[in-house]
Parts: sequence; structure tokens; C-alpha cells
Amino acid sequence: MKEKNVLLIANQISKSFEATKALDDVSIKLLRGEIVGLIGENGSGKSTLSSIISGVQLFDHGELILNGESYLPNTVLDAIEHGISMVTQEQATFDKLPVFANIFVGREHLFSEKGFLQVNKMKREAKKALEQIGVQHIDPSSNMSSLTFEERKLAELARALYSEPSLLVIDETSTTLSKTGRDILYRLIASMRDENKTVLFISHDIDEIMEVCDSLIILRDGKLINTLKKEDFRPETIKEQMIGRKIDTDFYQRTECIFTTAEKMLVGRNLSYKSLDDINIELIQGEILGIGGLTDCGMHLLGQILFGLVRPDFGSVTVGNKKITTPIAATKSSVAYISKNRDDEALLTLMSVRDNICLPTLNRLSGLFGVISKKIEQNFVNEWANVLQIKMNNMNQAVLSLSGGNKQKVAVAKWLGFNADIFLFDCPTRGIDIGVKASIYALMNELKQRGKAILMISEELPELIGMSDRILIMKDGKITGDFVCDEEISEKTLIQYMI
Ligand SMILES: Nc1ncnc2c1ncn2[C@@H]1O[C@H](COP(=O)(O)OP(=O)(O)OP(=O)(O)O)[C@@H](O)[C@H]1O
Ligand SMILES: [Mg+2]
Repeated sequence: MKEKNVLLIANQISKSFEATKALDDVSIKLLRGEIVGLIGENGSGKSTLSSIISGVQLFDHGELILNGESYLPNTVLDAIEHGISMVTQEQATFDKLPVFANIFVGREHLFSEKGFLQVNKMKREAKKALEQIGVQHIDPSSNMSSLTFEERKLAELARALYSEPSLLVIDETSTTLSKTGRDILYRLIASMRDENKTVLFISHDIDEIMEVCDSLIILRDGKLINTLKKEDFRPETIKEQMIGRKIDTDFYQRTECIFTTAEKMLVGRNLSYKSLDDINIELIQGEILGIGGLTDCGMHLLGQILFGLVRPDFGSVTVGNKKITTPIAATKSSVAYISKNRDDEALLTLMSVRDNICLPTLNRLSGLFGVISKKIEQNFVNEWANVLQIKMNNMNQAVLSLSGGNKQKVAVAKWLGFNADIFLFDCPTRGIDIGVKASIYALMNELKQRGKAILMISEELPELIGMSDRILIMKDGKITGDFVCDEEISEKTLIQYMI
């Protein structure tokens, strides 16, 4: 029977990957005219559920009913034809293709006439698709690889909306977007709701969920725990149901700097490259130095330069008396770096969890004659997998098949295990659930007490304020604000220097 206002019903959906039960008998209903939140810890099944609905993969058991009829999408295009499109959690664009080709990938037939592809028409339509979501600054002819992380996501959003879906699935996209990008996204999904369409919105940010969503589905370990209506949203309840126990929500825990010698661990002098203009930076022993700003302020580029990934046009980076010009030189000087762009830069996703975690530390793990004992390696990996609660079948599992947040944990584990002296963290807790976030902050404090130096580039103001000893704010490639953290400092103050 067709229920009024119900767009999609998922009945007792189950899905396993070998020993992992990613979804266990999950039943949900998506109503028209609603933005439905989906929340749960890393590995709780959010991406699996949303990718099944969007035709990326099939379920093992259960049924899907769309508009009162059985729905069994075989492919993403099949789902799009049924009015369902998705913006995925991981990057889903082809680097070597131009933007317009990415927007219409799989739908080239729309632009073919007598066997010829009408490229100009494609470009025009791509421009329109971008403009429709309020994006003017991306040239559809440019190569995808020349776009920033955020621009790629916006192109994906344009792609998803071009087919005018009645259900849009957004898997953790807001963390990759700047304030402007987020505003575009929020505006778009609100207008979809006004047109009686449906949005399934995945996020780890409870404040964002509370603000944006009309109802909320909570998953834990592949099981449906609860569905809440907006009037029943309470942060404490949501967190507790997600995690299955009460947690201390005040997890920022800035600790005193105990190293007063002010030894400079890493120094960047007069760094200029592209938009970066004469940046000077000193990272001191035993401190957490926060760097904040809007996504495109140059702070991510600065992180890459400090690790030797990008050569500046002017200026130098030094650790002690050693110049850092390549990542190899950086690691030799005991510098670790976590990139914001984890799939391209932070991890070898085709390789196993074990290989990724051991990689920077191979030298230290190998014994006599450079041979690594399996036992030592296993213990090492187990130790770090435990500390970060990495959810995996076993350590030989390819990183590619981990959930998004668990990939991030591998990226963090690999450098913590390396036992560096200097940590350059670019958005270290991106996509990580609140439970593990707390342990990463605790680890950062512990590193600090042990005299390590941490540079934390972050787009989250509460994280910057809650964890840093000093904060530098950047805008348009320059440092515009320099703060010592105390009780006085507020988000409002910092924002003034960012925009
Ligand atoms: N292709 C796959 N092969 C093996 N295991 C998989 C695969 N896809 C997902 N899993 C496992 O299924 C579980 C659920 O993963 P899923 O990606 O749905 O989690 P999630 O809730 O989206 O987490 P996150 O917040 O980290 O993105 C995880 O344990 C994950 O490792
Ligand atoms: Mg996910």
C-alpha cells in the first residue's frame, strides 16, 4: 500500500563484508519534504546504508520500496534514473578529466548527436549546473586536478543536483567545505525540502545535525538504535544513543605548557608561494600551535610547505640546522604530517592497515640485517590500532575498505607510532566520531607533555580554541592574527581576523 508522504522505505536491510556485519536488519522510512539526519560512530554503517540506497552496492537481505514500488538499483545511474543521487564521503571525481566531463560522467549520451559528443554543449550545461548551485568561480573546462578539495566537492554537488533528484544523499560533505561552501549546501537542501523533496544528511557534527535536520536516524554497530523527530533532539541523548554509554562531552582539555625553554623545533622564514605571502612561523617545544582561517586562506598549503611537499618560491623551513626541502628530509628530521586530503596524500589505500601503520617506522622496527620480525610488527600495529580503536576485520584488510573515519584513524596511527618530535596535523579529527576525537585530543596533550611540538591546522574553531596554546589566524595568504590562548579568547574574535 502506498503511504502518503513516504518516499522510501528500507525494510530489514542487512549487509556483511566477510566477518563484518555492516548493516544488521535496519528498517527506516524517509518522508517527503524532510531533511533526515543520519548519525553514528565511525564504522556504524552510515555510508553502507546510503550507498545501497544510491545504487553503489546491493544489500544481502531485505527490501527497498520507492514510491510504493519495489526498488533494486543495480548501478548509480540506475538510482539516478529513479530520482536518487548522492554526494559521496570520499572524493569521487576523475582527476585527469575536465570539470564538465566529470559533471556528466556516465550521462554522455545526453550530449551525443549522430555519434558525436557535443563538447561545447556539455561545457555550457556544466556551467549552468554550477551556476544553479550558486557557484560562479569554477571554469568547467579546467582540469579536475587543478581544483581545490572544496571545489571538487562543489562539482560533485552540481553533478548530483543536475538530475533534479527527489532524494539527495549527502555523505559527510560539510567537513570538506568552507563556510561559503556550507552555506551553499544548506541553502540547496533547504530549498529541496521546500519543494517537498527529501535529503539524507550524514554528519558527525551534532550541532550541525540539530540545526539542519528535521528528523534523525541513529545507527550503532550496524543496527538501528532510534529515529528522533526534531522536537526530541537533545545533544546528550543523541550522543549517548550513538555511543551506547554516557560520555564526557567536555573533551577539550587544554593543558599547561610545561616546557619553558622555548626551544624552537621548526622554523619557517619568509615563506612565499602562490597566495602565501612572506609567512614567518616558529613552532616551540611542548606547545600546540593552532592555525585557523577559511579553507582557502593558505593554511593547508602552509602545512604542505612545512613538510617539504611543496617547494616555496622564497623562504626556508628548518629543523635545527637542517633545511626541509622534501618529505624525506622532513621525516629524517622527525617531522610527521597528516594531510587533510587523506586518500591522495596521507594513505596508500590499496595497501593493508598493517603496511600503512608500519611504513614510516620500518627502519626502527627492523632488527639485525634489516629483517622485520612478524611478531614485532603485529604487536606494533595492534598497539596503535587499539589506542585509536580502529574498526577492522584484521590488520591485513586494505585501507580502501575501511569506513571513512577509520581511514583517518590509520593516518593518525601511522605517525603516532613513528614517534616523531614534530607533528604537523592538518584537520586531524576530520570525519572522526566524538568518542575517538576525545582520545586523539588526550593523545595530543600527552605528546605535548613529553616535549613534542604540534602544529594543528584546523577549520573548527572550538577545536582550535579548546586545544591550542597559541593561535595564528590566516587570511588571503597572510597571518592576520596572533593570539595566546586564555579564557578571554572567543570564536567571534578569531572570525574577525579570518574574513
Ligand atoms: N568494501 C568493504 N569491504 C570490507 N568492509 C567494508 C567495506 N565497506 C564497508 N566495510 C565495513 O563496514 C562497516 C561499516 O562501514 P561504513 O563505511 O558504512 O561506516 P560509516 O558509518 O560510514 O563510518 P564513518 O563515520 O567512518 O564514515 C565498517 O566496519 C567497514 O570497515
Ligand atoms: Mg562513512
